[in-house]
Amino acid sequence: MKDDLIFDMEMAKEYDKGIRRALPSYDALFRMVQSFLRANIKDSANVLVVGAGGGNEIVTFGTANPSWTFAGVDPSEAMLEVALQKAKNEGIEERVSIHVGKIEEIEFTEPFNAATCILVLHFVETIEEKRSLLKTVKEQLKPGAPFVLVTMFGDQSNSEFNERMNLWKSIWLDLTDLTLEDVNGMEESVRELSFISANEIEKLLDQAGFERVTQFFSTTLFGGWIAHAGN
Ligand SMILES: C[S@@+](CC[C@H](N)C(=O)[O-])C[C@H]1O[C@@H](n2cnc3c(N)ncnc32)[C@H](O)[C@@H]1O
Repeated sequence: MKDDLIFDMEMAKEYDKGIRRALPSYDALFRMVQSFLRANIKDSANVLVVGAGGGNEIVTFGTANPSWTFAGVDPSEAMLEVALQKAKNEGIEERVSIHVGKIEEIEFTEPFNAATCILVLHFVETIEEKRSLLKTVKEQLKPGAPFVLVTMFGDQSNSEFNERMNLWKSIWLDLTDLTLEDVNGMEESVRELSFISANEIEKLLDQAGFERVTQFFSTTLFGGWIAHAGN
């Protein structure tokens, strides 16, 4: 993960506000992810949440789906602490297990009925590490299980990326008191994250053993894909 973006306690507390500025359709995205999961899993389900820090998947899907249980994985203890506290506040902590570490480091005894990996992959630096993460997720799933991947994406050398970046900056300028200088500084940091193109993401999902890979979400610098674990 990029060293300059540390998910510590300060970041964990600010996260909920910041993410809705960086991605104004964050809540709508979660509603779409929930619809996909509901349509593709039976009544009770054990859901693997990769990058569960902050707890938004666990709390959003957990409160609305009382028969689902969750395994939340994240290397950031601070982000997981926030997740656990939110689960306790909602009284759903008995349906949640928390695992500190990268997904590749955690051993599970039972395969999962579904998995999500939301806003994690652009922090994973190399293409090999991204492939390994996705392969590990696939190995933890039952055949046919639904999977949702949401990540920053794009080919930085292409003009569409620049247009998307300009829109992303315009939204920050429109919704906040930040100056153009501030937002240009943010652009510099964001450009250091690990972006790959939509084609590369779809290739990685295919190589990891996912089928019916379909992009369902695309806004500014963010994209989302639905897929199913192959046999
Ligand atoms: C931007 S937050 C996303 C949190 C949440 N999924 C959401 O959508 O609001 C990214 C999280 O991914 C975690 N992360 C980074 N690399 C990971 C890995 N290999 N396995 C699991 N989590 C990882 C980070 O620690 C951080 O908490």
